[in-house]
Amino acid sequence: MPYPKFSGIDFSKHDVIEFNPDQPDVGKGFRCGRGEFVSYIKGEKIRNELRSSTSKCWLLSCRDGLAAYVTLLADKLTMGTPILIDEDVRYTTFPAVKVGWLAADPRAKGSGSRLMEWAMEYVVLELVPRLGIRFLTVDALYDADLPGQPYDASGFYYKLGFRFTNPDEENPPSDGFRTMYFDLMPLIQQINQVTQP
Ligand SMILES: CC(C)(COP(=O)(O)OP(=O)(O)OC[C@H]1O[C@@H](n2cnc3c(N)ncnc32)[C@H](O)[C@@H]1OP(=O)(O)O)[C@@H](O)C(=O)NCCC(=O)NCCS
Repeated sequence: MPYPKFSGIDFSKHDVIEFNPDQPDVGKGFRCGRGEFVSYIKGEKIRNELRSSTSKCWLLSCRDGLAAYVTLLADKLTMGTPILIDEDVRYTTFPAVKVGWLAADPRAKGSGSRLMEWAMEYVVLELVPRLGIRFLTVDALYDADLPGQPYDASGFYYKLGFRFTNPDEENPPSDGFRTMYFDLMPLIQQINQVTQP
């Protein structure tokens, strides 16, 4: 009898690999509660974005196939107030990396948060030493047009430490998402403590 897909796999430390757009069959068998995330990983749009260097995509795959994916791209966080005034930084816009598309197969428990934790570490270890980056951003999907409960991805990001850029924004949002941000500084300091003599 075949075992259920992804059963018994601990994703908490699983490797993440970069998506090569010429690799065949990526996304085959992938499931997600939101169909647009399945079409996206299987379709040409993501492949064109990768080839045109407008996005980078990272995969959490295992023997059973694709468990989750995330895209990352350069962004600018715009806030209503100078949130780093305590650090004597008076800007209201800040360099950031955006979490573009993120999706996890619901059978691969924990794969979504593993990818997000990987992305935070990747940005701090690989990008922050080379480029000014202080925040992660995401446009958290909010779909009010569903029967019953609206679909709201912000709770997932909130648990990870993201906060709303505009907490007073109308809800449901008119454009179908709410922008959130995550301050990388605690992780930057933590990693510096471990790596610096
Ligand atoms: C959002 C998504 C990537 C989360 O991935 P996941 O693998 O289900 O997440 P995990 O299993 O790692 O869950 C981590 C925690 O977040 C919680 N969580 C997941 N989605 C949530 C939501 N929408 N609201 C509140 N909490 C949520 C889980 O219950 C879990 O909580 P716990 O740690 O207390 O057990 C996944 O549900 C998904 O692909 N959704 C459809 C696409 C989507 O909305 N992408 C984001 C677009 S901005």
